[in-house]
Amino acid sequence: MSARLVSRLRDVVGDAHVLTDADVRAGYETDWLRKWHGTACCVVRPATASEVAAVLVECSAASVAVVPQGGNTGLVGGSVPRGGEVVLSMQRFTALGAVDGAAHQVTAGAGVTIESLQRHARAAGLDFAVDWGARATATVGGAVNTNAGGSRVVRFGTMRAQVMGLQAVFADGSVVTQLDGLPKETAGPSLAGLLVGSEGTLAVVTAVRLRLVPWYRETAAALVACDSLAQAVGLLPRLRALASLDAVELLLPEALSLACHALDVAPPLDPASAAAFVMVDCAAHDDPQGELAELLIDERGVLAVGAQRELLYRIRDHVTIAIGARGMPLKLDVAVPVHRLDELMAQVRALVANLAPTAQLVAFGHLAEGNVHVNVLGAGEAEASLRDGVLGAAIALGGTISAEHGIGIAKADWLERLKGPAAVAVMRAVKQSLDPHGMLNPGVLLT
Ligand code: LAC
Ligand code: ZN
Repeated sequence: MSARLVSRLRDVVGDAHVLTDADVRAGYETDWLRKWHGTACCVVRPATASEVAAVLVECSAASVAVVPQGGNTGLVGGSVPRGGEVVLSMQRFTALGAVDGAAHQVTAGAGVTIESLQRHARAAGLDFAVDWGARATATVGGAVNTNAGGSRVVRFGTMRAQVMGLQAVFADGSVVTQLDGLPKETAGPSLAGLLVGSEGTLAVVTAVRLRLVPWYRETAAALVACDSLAQAVGLLPRLRALASLDAVELLLPEALSLACHALDVAPPLDPASAAAFVMVDCAAHDDPQGELAELLIDERGVLAVGAQRELLYRIRDHVTIAIGARGMPLKLDVAVPVHRLDELMAQVRALVANLAPTAQLVAFGHLAEGNVHVNVLGAGEAEASLRDGVLGAAIALGGTISAEHGIGIAKADWLERLKGPAAVAVMRAVKQSLDPHGMLNPGVLLT
């Protein structure tokens, strides 16, 4: 059965783009964390929307499900096979259209990395607004499918706010192309809006029309030491008043210390000297250093410009890698209304102390959105109960179990507790009508 499918797929995309060799498949079968993996029937690498359509039609005919995959930097198991699926790699969709300076938009293939998109926009004097540590590998398609967030959400919103339109291929092979980028159009519900955050379960996104933003070349950052998380949250009203505010990140002491240690750099501030560190970044057309310094005049911290600011970002971007180097963590991505962040972290600390007293808690994230990445190393057998405790606490505080990483395989069993039965029934109805045979990313998002 699968030999016949493989040969059909070779006819569609060409021999060179159907990978069956176990060694070659391996990189597509395991996620970045090495936590999630499964064997693929094969990896197929189409280059056009009509090839994707033909692949989906062949897979449907053979009743073999498809796992769409971008840069495979996801953290919730959503982009690797569970067992026997075809991995549909989008890595050949690297086309980047000319920057439309009048509309401040560009069209990017799903396989374009966030970093190449940023470079492309900057070559035209503009910028792409969504940014996070995995930029060199993560792709536009993955970012759309997870509604990626990152560090600049406080200024520009998540991926959802950047998507002006898209092209997508549905399970039955139909292709919808909406790449004109009209800022105003009211003609029915937004298809792009439906697909953002759908984690490859409703369609395969092949190209995206994206909003671009000004490229603010003048930057200044600061690392502020706070005696409590509540004090860190208390900075937000003043920070938000800064016109140049670009990012407000949170590093708890263990995260700062771990990343600096892994990079072998001296911490900009002694990690033991505070309960929480806030990394503020400002960007503007005119040097924002003065307004940032003035705002923080009564705070304890360091101002960082030029190479020092780059070092702060290197440290910030390295936290996830530094944790991964220590072992396989329990990794959760929760958010609560920001005024409840302190409460959430108190509960998280109590859970770790009670359930896994020898484990190491490393927490960091995006302060402005109340979004914390809770990582626990060495939780051992307490992992499942810790996970349930943290996710339950986030929901009870009016928050979410996925702020930016997605639900994936990791948290599909929690979706209904988060959203409620009525909302999940609507999601199931949409899934059923667009993908009645469950061809697209089975097991992800909806169990
Ligand atoms: C970060 C990723 C892990 O914030 O979301 O670094
Ligand atoms: Zn993050």
